[in-house]
Amino acid sequence: MLPMAPAMFWRSPWLKPLNDTTAWNSLLQGVNATWSLTEVRARVLRSVQECRDVVSLYLKPNRLFKGFIPGQHLALTLPCKGVLQSRSFSLSQAPGAGGVLRLTIKLKADGVLSQAVAKLKRGAVVRLSQAGGAFTHARPERGVLMLSAGSGITPMIAMLQDWAKHDTRPDVLMIHSCRDEADWILREDLRTLVHQWPQLKIRPVFTAAEGRLDAERLQALAPDFALRDTLLCGPEEFMEWIAAFYRKQGLSRQLKQEHFQARRTEIRPDAARYEVFAPDGRAVFHALNGQPLLEAAEAAGLTPVHGCRRGICKTCTCRKLGGTVHNQLTDTLSGSGEEWIQLCVSTPVSDLHLEL
Ligand code: FES
Repeated sequence: MLPMAPAMFWRSPWLKPLNDTTAWNSLLQGVNATWSLTEVRARVLRSVQECRDVVSLYLKPNRLFKGFIPGQHLALTLPCKGVLQSRSFSLSQAPGAGGVLRLTIKLKADGVLSQAVAKLKRGAVVRLSQAGGAFTHARPERGVLMLSAGSGITPMIAMLQDWAKHDTRPDVLMIHSCRDEADWILREDLRTLVHQWPQLKIRPVFTAAEGRLDAERLQALAPDFALRDTLLCGPEEFMEWIAAFYRKQGLSRQLKQEHFQARRTEIRPDAARYEVFAPDGRAVFHALNGQPLLEAAEAAGLTPVHGCRRGICKTCTCRKLGGTVHNQLTDTLSGSGEEWIQLCVSTPVSDLHLEL
């Protein structure tokens, strides 16, 4: 008899319940709610009201968290009305002593997850994904222009703190748009930074009194914008016009951006329709060619767990038992057999069998 590979041996049904990670996780969490063999879990150390409708959560993750680069984000998952909900948030403070993470979250009056975040108290335990995302700028080699609006300031603060900490203090100009002074997120953090970093220039644009930032104003506030690497983060509309402006100037290559919302997918009116089956052969929903499976499942009233909706956090990962999908992020076709796929960036190319 051939020797059984160690992984296959460990998965053998004869070893149940010893190899049942779900059972082990429940057991561990009975002792300490942050302990897990597989999940990043974190304890809320405190929740601080930053300004109108904005709170910062200070979190201590368990040992499974692998760290982050300033500018990256992660998915926070919470039970909301009996259903797990996840959203992505930028880490709003540089990696620091004790491994404490900070997420700064704008609470929306009608947001289900926002309501759950508002109720979190010291000692509560939440689930996190690993950090991800390419919105990073480790060691700037020339001047930097930061263009942020609203919560878009959060990854910028983490980067600024990190540069200050490592004595990399480039010539930074930040133009930050918000409704008014009371709406300026993490202003105290900026004050502290400016105090120790004279080359850091901050230009707020208070939209309630001055109107929105436009190309003319941008050029007046940052006449040397073409000579600076530009970091952009904020609401989609704000980012779209700035990206278009940089394109027109032929400067797209020096613009790095972080999107908070998923891009909408264009689906052709004559797109083919495919069935998605559960492992027991039941048809559970259908999806059109070009339509992400997460969207299609939600349209059918299902609520798959998800986070970023952009293929980064991996929260929506699901086992495909059969069929072919197109991965929009990597522009590749899957095989037709068993494999893990991400529902938010996978679109069907045939009928599918999924372990939802
Ligand atoms: S929801 Fe984050 S990868 Fe799909």
